Amino acid sequence: MCGILGYVGEKDAVPIILGGLRALEYRGYDSSGVVVANPGRLETVRAAGKLDNLVAKLAEHPLSGSLGLGHTRWATHGPPTEKNAHPHLDGKSRLAVIHNGIIENFLPLKRRLQAAGWVFHSDTDTEVVANLISSHAESSPDLGTAVARTLSELEGMYALGVIGLGSDGEPTGEIFAARKGPPLVLGVGQGENFLGSDPAGLLAHTRNVIFLENGDLARVTRDAIEIHDRSGQRVERPVQRLNWDPVQVEKGGYKHFMLKEIHEQAQAVQDTFGARVDFEERRLLLDGFADVADELRRIERIQILACGTSWHSALVGKFLIETLARVSVEVDYGSEYRYRDPIVDSGVLALGISQSGETADTLSALEAAGERGALMLAISNVPGSQITRISRATLYTHAGPEIGVASTKAFTTQLAALYLFALYLRQERGGTIEDEHLSGLAHLPLAITEALGAEAQIEEMARRFSRSEDFLYLGRGIHYPIALEGALKLKEISYIHAEGYPAGEMKHGPIALIDDELPVVALATGDDVVYEKVRSNIQEVKARGGLLIVVTDRDAEDLGSLAEAVIRVPRVSPLLQPIVTVIPLQLLAYFIGVRRGADVDQPRNLAKSVTVE
Ligand code: M6R
Repeated sequence: MCGILGYVGEKDAVPIILGGLRALEYRGYDSSGVVVANPGRLETVRAAGKLDNLVAKLAEHPLSGSLGLGHTRWATHGPPTEKNAHPHLDGKSRLAVIHNGIIENFLPLKRRLQAAGWVFHSDTDTEVVANLISSHAESSPDLGTAVARTLSELEGMYALGVIGLGSDGEPTGEIFAARKGPPLVLGVGQGENFLGSDPAGLLAHTRNVIFLENGDLARVTRDAIEIHDRSGQRVERPVQRLNWDPVQVEKGGYKHFMLKEIHEQAQAVQDTFGARVDFEERRLLLDGFADVADELRRIERIQILACGTSWHSALVGKFLIETLARVSVEVDYGSEYRYRDPIVDSGVLALGISQSGETADTLSALEAAGERGALMLAISNVPGSQITRISRATLYTHAGPEIGVASTKAFTTQLAALYLFALYLRQERGGTIEDEHLSGLAHLPLAITEALGAEAQIEEMARRFSRSEDFLYLGRGIHYPIALEGALKLKEISYIHAEGYPAGEMKHGPIALIDDELPVVALATGDDVVYEKVRSNIQEVKARGGLLIVVTDRDAEDLGSLAEAVIRVPRVSPLLQPIVTVIPLQLLAYFIGVRRGADVDQPRNLAKSVTVE
């Protein structure tokens, strides 16, 4: 949700913070702000709207200092105005706070503070934290003690950064970082240290990072990092070296991150199956899974838990696992699972899928399954993220940082990872891996590249369809989730209403929507039986005047007479076909969004990581 950045060292913190916030802006972009500590004063500049507004304000009111915090906000408490933008100072202007999360008991705390004379200038729960720390500071020997006392009173979820002035009015030269729920990572430098809500904001300066655990409180100075755990014990957390490439968080000549990330998919998918498949021995080697192999042999059912695009991956995963490993799979939304009474026992594998590894709904659902005895595993893209910490083993997608808010390469790499996982289950449960299972993988990167060859055609098509206000996406079998994903991409990026539907269900209702203004995207891919059925559905749409856009892996000639547009994708093995079929749908959403003038990388109201329920 919100992006957090902190710097302590000898350099000017402001450009470092702005650069980091730029890389974190995908986490929230309702407002942003920066604070630096200088002798005698904390100076802030904040602006509503995108980070560019803050940059413009800083050009008029420059700040500098070697200790500072920055924040980019996804609003929870209070509208996205300047007064609600972080950082928030306490009433005595002696400390500043940035926050990601929700303080659930902020109202009683605020009333208590107001009764004691504290005045509030914003609608946020964060300002309550600032004033609470300040009130404790009056009776605490140092800022760290005041922060710790405050944390013991907070209910809810938070990632917090705090800086302040000492009783002598001098900057204390320290950042306090506290985490309960949303992630926080420390960047370890030489004579300087960093704080971020995820590594993307730090990569330009260091790849050595420490992921804070839930309940940790860290004191970060330019030369040292001290961490105390939730019980107050001093602890050492490992320094991890990330192999993410800093260039990946730049646009590299593309107009938008989304387009760049669409184009990175061949490489990302290849990186995901890369070293995990021994083609000669026909074996799957999943790093970290040896420890759970015995349990995987014994599990009876699988429950996959995810949200949004990751939930669509889960639906494809059900096909893959049931077909390849013959284990029964249920798929649940994280946000629904925990509010029913799921039937879970030790025969259940709960598999959480989350690009960010931070999605609160997915994490809560996975934890709920774990509490009931399930084996907890994860598929995630972010090393060290929370889902990887609560799971016994994680299958990483090697997509690299995904900055565009709409998932593209995260989705296709999740599908590749699920395919590997299904084969691994098959292998560990006594099944044989045949050449036919692996040969499709080797061909996949090329097929993705070929699918991208339709880009110019799709850009041209976007001209024609960008004024439509509704779209219907139809798919069958393993391509039904791809219809859902195509519709979600269009909604997110262009704000056009779109529905994904199982093609066979159209006649049970949605067929009433079809008229000569409704574009219908039909996925005519897959095995012969499914293809023929979809072809019949295409005829039904045509008979009612619908505007057909057909994506197919077949000879397009016979479809050409039915459709306004036919997009050809290469044919790969049926269980891998969704990875290729989704590519033109991503491009269609992208180009329609661009034509409509939408902010495709940062669509309105969304955030990349949804760390609140
Ligand atoms: O990080 P996660 O995979 O857990 O995120 C889940 C969803 O929030 C995410 O997929 C969302 O739907 C994207 N905006 C899709 O493009």
